[in-house]
Amino acid sequence: MAGRTSLEGLALMAWRQNLAEGRVKIFDTTLRDGEQSPGCSMNTLEKKKMARQLEELGVDIIEAGFPIASEGDFEAVHGVSAQAGGAVTIAALARASQADIERAAKALEPAHIPRIHVFLASSDIHLEHKLRMTRQQALDRIGESVRKARSLVEDVEFSCEDSTRTDRGYLCESFRVAVEAGATTLNIPDTVGYTMPGEYAQIVRDVRKAVGEGPTLSVHCHDDLGMAVANSLAAVDAGARQVECTINGIGERAGNAALEEIVMALRVRHDLMPYHTGVKNELLYPTSQLLSEIIEVSVQPNKAIVGRNAFAHEAGIHQDGVLKHALTYEIMTPQSVGVPTNRLVLGKHSGRHALQKRYEELGYRLDPGQLNEMYRRFVELADRKKLILDEDLVRMVHYLEQGLPTGV
Ligand code: KIV
Ligand code: ZN
Repeated sequence: MAGRTSLEGLALMAWRQNLAEGRVKIFDTTLRDGEQSPGCSMNTLEKKKMARQLEELGVDIIEAGFPIASEGDFEAVHGVSAQAGGAVTIAALARASQADIERAAKALEPAHIPRIHVFLASSDIHLEHKLRMTRQQALDRIGESVRKARSLVEDVEFSCEDSTRTDRGYLCESFRVAVEAGATTLNIPDTVGYTMPGEYAQIVRDVRKAVGEGPTLSVHCHDDLGMAVANSLAAVDAGARQVECTINGIGERAGNAALEEIVMALRVRHDLMPYHTGVKNELLYPTSQLLSEIIEVSVQPNKAIVGRNAFAHEAGIHQDGVLKHALTYEIMTPQSVGVPTNRLVLGKHSGRHALQKRYEELGYRLDPGQLNEMYRRFVELADRKKLILDEDLVRMVHYLEQGLPTGV
């Protein structure tokens, strides 16, 4: 008990310090919620590889899996725990049951900083139809399970599943019980992606008022209405200091809030949101690429920050602007997120300037007459072909040199 009191004192100091500094912890759940998306599961070796990259990226917490779910998940959490350094917390998920919590603690044994993440649903819909429990039974279960987790590790997170569809008074009561039992982080998941920024911010403020300043408040948003990142950012503005998110936004159904979007929004709009994370932003793109390679699921081309087109410009006016000064159409540089360069995509909206630049990059210096002719041929081709590749340009220039027609 004495140990716990001093830990609570430390947690309070850390929270005050984090708030003063605007430091937001990044809790990465790519290896747990992320892999729950269809076709995204990973074996132990793959999870260990991804966890090394996440550690390098600078996330604060890696949720490595749900050990009771399967032997493979147990092994993965154990393996990730064993390789993790002393600067990252490794979390394991557990339902509010003694068996789940014991299994999670066992899987986390090799970790320098282990965290058990206990969850129990709190909305009436879940209590009545899924858990078949009364509100009082659920409160008792929260107390018992958080106490059990705290008897095994010092760092315990508690989540009220379906928080955003839970009666507000009861939600606050559930979190108060969790804090009394020893939870150090309280997570407020928008499990079904239902909330909106203003509403979510108010929930965070209400929970803060109910539990006082000690525990870290955490948010976990799903993207069913495309609001996961916006909701997470609104929650940070309202006082949340941990954001749960995944690389490429993978996760149940429409996915979780995308880590790369949260991190870059806080960086690019620091003027409006004076918070920061410990993530090395120039590793975002390589991390996204590694995940796509491991799970063999590619990122949609227009995905913010890490999509193939995120720094590609096709319209002639845009290309001209970017060539003159990148800031005309780019709010961050591709290099700042680890993309080697911006790409001027050549298509029917491209201008002469972009064509000339691409030819220079390919090693061809065209005189004005050649450029005019090449541009004419290029526009004609672009009407027939969606994307013009470097090979097409090279072939076209060779045909021109030989006095032949377009040739593609
Ligand atoms: O979405 C959710 O509610 C979860 C919990 C287990 C935190 O993933
Ligand atoms: Zn989730």
